[in-house]
Amino acid sequence: MTDQAPAPYAGKPRVLSGVQPSGDLHLGNYLGALVKFARLQHEMETFIFVADLHAITAWQDPAKLKDQVREIAAAYLATGLDPKVATIFAQSAVPAHAELAWVFNCVARLGWLDRMTQFKDKAGKHKERESVGLYTYPVLQAADILIYKATHVPVGEDQRQHLELTRDIAAKFNHDFGAPNFFPLPDALTQGPGARIMSLRDGSAKMSKSDPSDNSRINLTDDADTIAQKVRKARTDAEVLPEKLEDLKGRAEAENLVGVYAALSGRTAQDVLTEFAGQGFGAFKPKLADLAVSVMAPIGGEMRRMLADPAEIDRILTAGAEHAREVAAPTLAEVKRIVGFWAG
Ligand code: TYM
Repeated sequence: MTDQAPAPYAGKPRVLSGVQPSGDLHLGNYLGALVKFARLQHEMETFIFVADLHAITAWQDPAKLKDQVREIAAAYLATGLDPKVATIFAQSAVPAHAELAWVFNCVARLGWLDRMTQFKDKAGKHKERESVGLYTYPVLQAADILIYKATHVPVGEDQRQHLELTRDIAAKFNHDFGAPNFFPLPDALTQGPGARIMSLRDGSAKMSKSDPSDNSRINLTDDADTIAQKVRKARTDAEVLPEKLEDLKGRAEAENLVGVYAALSGRTAQDVLTEFAGQGFGAFKPKLADLAVSVMAPIGGEMRRMLADPAEIDRILTAGAEHAREVAAPTLAEVKRIVGFWAG
């Protein structure tokens, strides 16, 4: 026996991420996740899926679910994912995710899941009335990632805790089954000013698909007028913008709008302040509205164009699922062998 640390994971780098088809995609999803998918596909082998298994942890109308999946796929394509470069598919078309999730249900500990803040937020005071699936949701998320042995997971800040759980599950599986380095411990890629976009109506609440106020978010499918109007109506304060970032502290709405401007223009928040210092929101908002319209409106237009003829989207999802199943199969076979299953 030596007390040397085990060799680092030697598999190849892979990106994986997904979005739930459970409501309109918004600026937060775009800046926190979709923008990064399109960029990373050129740096590493990339798998991006539509999380329809996760979506049914809350009720979804079966007559609409397929169209919701197509809509997310259209958003992926409209924001620059290239099906010739990245693998794009629906989660339910790759059964290995759910099979691995069962094994991980037996690896993860109840105490770990009890600490998940997203479950607590979503379940509120009535947790005994929520589906069991909502509770074990992060275990399936770990399976989504590790079935492809993904090493990099681009997500918004709200998913960080789920990624920490994924690392814990990977480490415990590797340890308990005596398979050092079988699964990588993936990194959450949450860098950048878009990782936590707040509601346009309340700077202390995350921009969210489930917020009852449509004015709280800019949807990917909003047209130019709607986008500009939502920016104009965004809640702000009466003060001018300061020169330094630290002077934005305590001004949540102002800080959020500066962050949105920075993320949409690919600049730092400090850079934006240097340009707008001393100006009020009467001057800043029209500039932000123009920028938001110029980036977001073409995405909505492209999504509408693609959704008018979904055959191409379906073709892309079918081909993507075929490739994803091929990549997932050897990992699942290995897991079955390692666990000692009859079929392994
Ligand atoms: P979902 O569908 O809630 O959100 C999709 C992505 O958008 C990010 N996001 C935000 N980023 C910045 N500001 C916001 N206000 C904001 N709101 C949402 C989310 O962080 C996410 O990256 N559990 C995931 C889906 C999932 C997944 C996975 C992700 C299932 N399996 C495996 C990565 C890897 C979710 O519900 O995302």
